[in-house]
Amino acid sequence: MSTKVTGDIAVSLEGVTIGYDKKAPLAKIPSLRIKNGEILAIAGPSGIGKSTLLKTIAGLVPPLAGKIEVCGARAPSKPYRGQLGYIPQRLGLIRHASVFHNVLIGSRARFCGPIDLFASKEAKEWAKRSIIQMGLEDKTWEPIRRLSGGQQRRVATARTLAQRPNLILADEFLSELDEETMLNVIQAVVEYSREEAAAIVLIEHDIGRARRIADRLVVMDDGRLNPFLSETKTMEVRM
Ligand SMILES: Nc1ncnc2c1ncn2[C@@H]1O[C@H](COP(=O)(O)OP(=O)(O)OP(=O)(O)O)[C@@H](O)[C@H]1O
Ligand SMILES: [Mg+2]
Repeated sequence: MSTKVTGDIAVSLEGVTIGYDKKAPLAKIPSLRIKNGEILAIAGPSGIGKSTLLKTIAGLVPPLAGKIEVCGARAPSKPYRGQLGYIPQRLGLIRHASVFHNVLIGSRARFCGPIDLFASKEAKEWAKRSIIQMGLEDKTWEPIRRLSGGQQRRVATARTLAQRPNLILADEFLSELDEETMLNVIQAVVEYSREEAAAIVLIEHDIGRARRIADRLVVMDDGRLNPFLSETKTMEVRM
């Protein structure tokens, strides 16, 4: 199934203010555009509003002001059902259900209708492939509650990859992973972005790690998104 969006901007924010209270906004973003296939990392101190920004782009928190377009559609309308994959900081997995069933939720969102009783062959196929990609094949039928924190993060990533979205919003999805697993997960996600021209916005505390994955790195601080400037200022920064 291919329902690629037209145009080359995956996400655009114009004059956006984020937060939960108009009197105490968390950040103002005059303009931010993320292209299809681009990987943007957001770093910044704890509690500054990074997760809120991701939730706002995902349409889960309304912006206090401004205009957001996701895959060419004004958010929070959802003409591209299933095309936005969100990996929340709190993973939102169903703890008593198996890895397979959790990942199937992602592929069903893309490949099945809302009232389809059974998952299509295609949905099952993408679920299996994503589980293998995340190195969880031997855990396929294991309930989530018996998995480690890092394994659970990989399930959440598999669930999003199985959805084949045009945009992935990933909130600290590399936490709790050992070095080797982390590199595998990064490789799978970067490959996915390259192959599908999918944009990825990820939140990453570790600046070194963020720079390894991302085409562009911004830092949220003082109520703004600033381009990251390395200590030597030799890094190319595109805003
Ligand atoms: N649902 C909510 N209602 C009101 N305030 C909230 C809500 N969720 C978060 N906040 C507040 O908004 C601020 C930003 O929270 P957010 O989770 O976006 O930070 P963050 O940058 O992702 O932090 P961390 O790096 O610790 O994950 C915090 O002060 C938090 O208490
Ligand atoms: Mg957060």
